Amino acid sequence: MWIGCAQLLEFRNYRTLSWRPAPRLNVVTGPNAQGKTNLLEALGLLITGRSFRTSRIAEIPRWGTETTTLTGEVLRGETRRTLRRALTRLEDGTWQTTGEPAPEWARAIAFGWQDLEIVNGGPSARRNFIDGFAGRLYPNHIPTLLRFRQVLARRNRLLQSRPHDAGLAERLGPWNEQFATVGMELLGRRRKAVAALQTELARVYAALSAAQSKVEIRYRTALGEAAEPAALLAALERSQREETRRGQTVVGPHRDDLAIEIDGVDARAFGSRGQQRLTALALRLAEMLPVSEAAGTAPVLLLDDALSELDPVVREHVLREIQSAEQVFLTTPDAPTVDGAAVFQVNGGSVTPA
Ligand SMILES: Nc1ncnc2c1ncn2[C@@H]1O[C@H](COP(=O)(O)OP(=O)(O)OP(=O)(O)O)[C@@H](O)[C@H]1O
Ligand SMILES: [Mg+2]
Repeated sequence: MWIGCAQLLEFRNYRTLSWRPAPRLNVVTGPNAQGKTNLLEALGLLITGRSFRTSRIAEIPRWGTETTTLTGEVLRGETRRTLRRALTRLEDGTWQTTGEPAPEWARAIAFGWQDLEIVNGGPSARRNFIDGFAGRLYPNHIPTLLRFRQVLARRNRLLQSRPHDAGLAERLGPWNEQFATVGMELLGRRRKAVAALQTELARVYAALSAAQSKVEIRYRTALGEAAEPAALLAALERSQREETRRGQTVVGPHRDDLAIEIDGVDARAFGSRGQQRLTALALRLAEMLPVSEAAGTAPVLLLDDALSELDPVVREHVLREIQSAEQVFLTTPDAPTVDGAAVFQVNGGSVTPA
């Protein structure tokens, strides 16, 4: 799939912009703070309805404005669909998102600075990564995740409010059942997502790194290989004392993690800065093939500053690897020369062919 055109109205530092990117590689260049990342954020929001940069909608509309509008067109073969998203400030000061949802085949994969967290941050960054990826593969994943979070919150509230109540076990009962069922569903899809990523990750990282290093990821859970809700129920049972003492649910997929290793050692503890950045980028690029297969068309790649901190050899490898994608947006302060790329210059919220 590809984005044929996009219009931004009052989006961050863009007052108004009408842009026709190229169907393949778009290099978006310009000095710092001109709107390169903002432009990629807008394209991502147009397709997915979410910003890859922030979960706070209020930051997005241009300062002092009450409405942001994004429109555009996505194409897949002969099919052409118009997209529209609007963010509007309501009287009570909250922001409302409206628009027409993108077609079910439309996907975007974004890479940005915040992705370094997947490699060197805490477990929640890795859980968010795998949930985001699983969401692009399996339409039910995000609804399951939201349901799981609801059940978890209910359980935790019960554990916090009545820690010494004799009736607590009885009141937890129905929540335990749901927690185990939804929790195992979530865990099962995360495992499938990791399995779908493994081979591609190894291939992509070896292709990008100058040293032909090997990267591996594994799903880490206290539940071992268990796949049945009964296993999670039993684990809840075993941790009852600790749960009541701490007032929270101590076992389940909300405590899981991913192990990421470069040549057999933990990337978080031992990876160099460049290796960590390359691993984060490789994770995103490795999503491409499984997501293409799931969606029936290649996703749009939004690569924000993907070349920085990488040495010249690795940069070349990255540029070669993304040639196999369909539509790519690559921001960089210093434009590389890439055969066949359309180069655009961003300056103070305007975009011109370079
Ligand atoms: N809601 C907003 N309204 C108006 N301007 C905004 C808003 N949010 C951010 N900006 C402006 O956008 C500018 C940054 O744009 P962006 O992050 O896209 O820069 P960039 O071109 O990617 O720069 P760099 O090369 O440093 O990454 C900021 O300097 C900020 O002033
Ligand atoms: Mg930027």
